[in-house]
Amino acid sequence: MLFKSVVALAAAASAAFGLPTAPPPPAGGVDANATAPPPEYVAMSDFDFQSLNLALNQEWIELDLFHYGLARFSPEEFEAQGIDAEQQHLIEFMANQEVGHSTLLSNILQGRGAKQCKYRYNFETVQEFVQFCAILTRFGESGVYGFLSHLDSRPAATLLLQSITTEARQQMIFRQFAGAFPMPVWFETGISQAMAWTLLSPYLIECPAENPRIEWPIFPTLNIQNNPNLTADGFQSAVSTNRTAFVTPNTTELYFEYDAPGKNVSYNNSYTTVVGANVTSEVPTHCVYINQLNATSVPYNATGNNTGSCIVPGGVVFGDDGIVNGTMFVGLFQNPPFVTPYNLSKLNDFIVAGPAVFVAG
Ligand SMILES: *[C@@H]1O[C@H](CO)[C@@H](O)[C@H](O)[C@H]1NC(C)=O
Ligand SMILES: *[C@@H]1O[C@H](CO)[C@@H](O)[C@H](O)[C@H]1NC(C)=O
Ligand SMILES: *[C@@H]1O[C@H](CO)[C@@H](O)[C@H](O)[C@H]1NC(C)=O
Ligand SMILES: *[C@@H]1O[C@H](CO)[C@@H](O)[C@H](O)[C@H]1NC(C)=O
Ligand SMILES: *[C@@H]1O[C@H](CO)[C@@H](O)[C@H](O)[C@H]1NC(C)=O
Ligand SMILES: *[C@@H]1O[C@H](CO)[C@@H](O)[C@H](O)[C@H]1NC(C)=O
Ligand SMILES: *[C@@H]1O[C@H](CO)[C@@H](O)[C@H](O)[C@H]1NC(C)=O
Ligand SMILES: *[C@@H]1O[C@H](CO)[C@@H](O)[C@H](O)[C@H]1NC(C)=O
Ligand SMILES: *[C@@H]1O[C@H](CO)[C@@H](O)[C@H](O)[C@H]1NC(C)=O
Ligand SMILES: *[C@@H]1O[C@H](CO)[C@@H](O)[C@H](O)[C@H]1NC(C)=O
Ligand SMILES: *[C@@H]1O[C@H](CO)[C@@H](O)[C@H](O)[C@H]1NC(C)=O
Ligand SMILES: *[C@@H]1O[C@H](CO)[C@@H](O)[C@H](O)[C@H]1NC(C)=O
Repeated sequence: MLFKSVVALAAAASAAFGLPTAPPPPAGGVDANATAPPPEYVAMSDFDFQSLNLALNQEWIELDLFHYGLARFSPEEFEAQGIDAEQQHLIEFMANQEVGHSTLLSNILQGRGAKQCKYRYNFETVQEFVQFCAILTRFGESGVYGFLSHLDSRPAATLLLQSITTEARQQMIFRQFAGAFPMPVWFETGISQAMAWTLLSPYLIECPAENPRIEWPIFPTLNIQNNPNLTADGFQSAVSTNRTAFVTPNTTELYFEYDAPGKNVSYNNSYTTVVGANVTSEVPTHCVYINQLNATSVPYNATGNNTGSCIVPGGVVFGDDGIVNGTMFVGLFQNPPFVTPYNLSKLNDFIVAGPAVFVAG
């Protein structure tokens, strides 16, 4: 045991100086003791590269979006939403955080990662900008939680975690700018890379030819026709409000329309939508609502070609923490299996369309 003898030597050396010395750490752990090699902050597999490059594409759009919003709307338009000059400075600061996050991921990808693209946004007001930022940072944050502990490179995962905790704060601040209850859940969900890429892909219109191809699938677009909306009741920026619930679990019905697969989408129209590998019909059997620690299936009610509805489910995580709340996800599936947070990506093979972001509260 080289490790033990080194410790013994060190202890002996210290003892020779008459100093009380720390014992070795508890057994176990990974790369957490004196024999651990120096960490290398690089992708260690294709899985790592593709996951981190997807995250880099997300950081690039956030950098563009925060600057774009500040340039697009006047200080007076922000003021009218209760976002004063000091709060506008916070949006500028968040853009600068994205400079750091994209630099970090570019460094981990050793210059082989994506460069910044051109983006398309469809908001017209400060309120809609703020809601879009809350939605975009939600799938950015959840997209990383879905793969973080599956990365081969734990050193890279450590750095990515340290940037995504910052993004989580941004997500909450945009809810506050919208005057919503800032965190109406007890846990933040993860989603798979394919789900995150499906949600991100419509906003990329042109990317440099040398950008690495994103090797996660894009599923057909899912629209919630009666999606609640943070902008609807004209709330002003606030640290916290008691805004009433947007939906009633077990009662509210969501209406959906979705695309057929085989459509050319995303930047330069260079990707084509697909359904999950196990899907044999374009008609879904279930909606799966993904939030907190839960993926909840409810029966799908087909009402026409590519239209249908699902009830919003009830259910709690623990105590009185209703699963459905905040900015969350729902998708259409054929016979989805039961999953838990660490194997949630096993849902990919059963996706017919989506997911979409569901603004539940
Ligand atoms: C020290 O860390 C290494 C590498 O992670 C591990 O294989 C080993 O079991 C650890 N040793 C002890 C005593 O925990
Ligand atoms: C969501 O959380 C807020 C804040 O706790 C609560 O007022 C609201 O009733 C919740 N919504 C649902 C649908 O449970
Ligand atoms: C996308 O189109 C732009 C503009 O024509 C071009 O510069 C760029 O190289 C194209 N990217 C890809 C991935 O084809
Ligand atoms: C949100 O709701 C408002 C008012 O109902 C509507 O004008 C707006 O288009 C909606 N915005 C989005 C992004 O759905
Ligand atoms: C806010 O909501 C909580 C939980 O429903 C309630 O107990 C409290 O009285 C409300 N406060 C105000 C000021 O509306
Ligand atoms: C999608 O793009 C491919 C390759 O450019 C092309 O052959 C195909 O016709 C396009 N499909 C549709 C539905 O536009
Ligand atoms: C999904 O497809 C794979 C490969 O065809 C097959 O082995 C597996 O049994 C299918 N799973 C389900 C639940 O249908
Ligand atoms: C299915 O949708 C139709 C049309 O909205 C509605 O009348 C019907 O009650 C729904 N059925 C179920 C089982 O949800
Ligand atoms: C669905 O599509 C088929 C074939 O295009 C058509 O015959 C049928 O009327 C459509 N049904 C509805 C409810 O729109
Ligand atoms: C929703 O329905 C389920 C199953 O019918 C029931 O167990 C649950 O208590 C209901 N939840 C609410 C909030 O009504
Ligand atoms: C949600 O997930 C938690 C944690 O796994 C579990 O204890 C709880 O029963 C789940 N809730 C429902 C309604 O399935
Ligand atoms: C996911 O993990 C849970 C245990 O946490 C297990 O019950 C379930 O069968 C797994 N799902 C799949 C599709 O493997």
